[in-house]
Amino acid sequence: MRIAIVGTGYQGLVVGTCLAENGHQIICVDRDAQRIQSLSQCVMPIHEPGLEELVARNLEEERLSFTTDLTDAVAESLMIFLCVGTPIQEDGFADTRGVIRAAEQIARVMTGYRIIVNKTTSPPGTGDEIEEAVRKNTEHTCDVVANPDFLKEGSAIDDFMRPDRVVIGCEDVRVREIMKELYSPFLRTGKPFLSMSRRSAEMTKFATNVMLAARISLMNQLADICTAYEADVAEVREGIAADYRIGPTFLFPGIGFGGQGLPRDLASCIKLAREKGLECDLIEAVQKVNERQREKFLRRILDYFGSAIAGKRIAIWGASFKPRTDDLRGAPALYLIDRIREAGAQVVIFDPAASKRLRDIYEDTIEIANKYYDALEGADALVIVTEWNEFRRPDYERMGKLMRERVIFDGRNLYTPKVMQAHGFKYFSVGRPSV
Ligand SMILES: NC(=O)c1ccc[n+]([C@@H]2O[C@H](COP(=O)([O-])OP(=O)(O)OC[C@H]3O[C@@H](n4cnc5c(N)ncnc54)[C@H](O)[C@@H]3O)[C@@H](O)[C@H]2O)c1
Repeated sequence: MRIAIVGTGYQGLVVGTCLAENGHQIICVDRDAQRIQSLSQCVMPIHEPGLEELVARNLEEERLSFTTDLTDAVAESLMIFLCVGTPIQEDGFADTRGVIRAAEQIARVMTGYRIIVNKTTSPPGTGDEIEEAVRKNTEHTCDVVANPDFLKEGSAIDDFMRPDRVVIGCEDVRVREIMKELYSPFLRTGKPFLSMSRRSAEMTKFATNVMLAARISLMNQLADICTAYEADVAEVREGIAADYRIGPTFLFPGIGFGGQGLPRDLASCIKLAREKGLECDLIEAVQKVNERQREKFLRRILDYFGSAIAGKRIAIWGASFKPRTDDLRGAPALYLIDRIREAGAQVVIFDPAASKRLRDIYEDTIEIANKYYDALEGADALVIVTEWNEFRRPDYERMGKLMRERVIFDGRNLYTPKVMQAHGFKYFSVGRPSV
């Protein structure tokens, strides 16, 4: 099938490439000409494991192309995937204005019937707004499908190729069958194709993220209770995770979740509830616990140094909001970097993928190390923010020799307190005894 993907960011690029890998003819459109030019030369604008190889193969096989020209892309495609951003507005709500604008632009260049598949994370009712926007801008008919995306940066290709489920919001039986056929190669292991109303599909994405966020906040609050009663939250987590009703995922305490999706979808759900006069105190609590988590972690660092923080050199390992991506949107690291610098300390950061994006934000005002041990030279403390694999088993003696003081604030509980104590470190983690 010939498919246009409108918006070639973290989502659109993965979706388009994976569909091309399955034999479809894909045209990826973006308004960012520089991005399109780089992609046409197989230069990736984002860090996503395995992506470059897939893009290269599909460019070579001429199943994948990149353009800024929406007109041609829409003319040649029966199906158009909307993958533009839905950033966080000031009130935290998902901003769907870009989605509606893109729908209007598509409508103006439609040359016949089209299926518009909204893959963006948009509140219930957005499908109706897209339909309205198209109707106002063309005489041609269309079907609008909601198809929320559950892929995760860092494992996005695998998530798209082997999804837990595919959710489709669509009332038309014929369109539903086309969508089922499109996704059937990805569901061969028997994972469900769930067809529902468009508003239910839209809401499913928000509900999923709220559930995931709730697990993290709950674990963070349980971690505090563990600390107060000298229990170790890592052991407690294992005990909980073995219960089949609970399971092991999203139970890791830490400095709280960042990124764009979870914080935005929590805030959006709160707003959706308030607009209808509904109580949503549980979701508000999830949000509040998460915000407090990073503040408490910062406070621990500032309290440790007290007024002596000015002039200290603090190393930070990990800046991206999660490992295996370069995405800094909503990253807790940015909050910590800014606050630690405001307190007068000097910061040196190492991140395996996000150096360029850090430079885009801080320009030359911040020190970025090329290697992770380099960041430790002369450091008065190490702060671990993102759990990249390479931070998991470092050479503790080498670390200690490089650092001025053997002090670690571990926001991801990567190490064992007793082991760190044996290597002479002062070690602070989340929900476990400090040593
Ligand atoms: N990033 C993820 O892991 C992920 C996961 C699940 C869902 N989503 C959802 O996918 C959507 C896209 O997110 P993203 O992270 O890919 O955003 P992004 O900001 O990385 O990419 C959006 C792209 O769309 C382009 N664009 C915007 N308006 C356009 C227009 N009118 N015409 C052509 N191009 C246009 C932008 O230039 C940009 O390249 C969001 O709704 C997000 O919530 C993202």
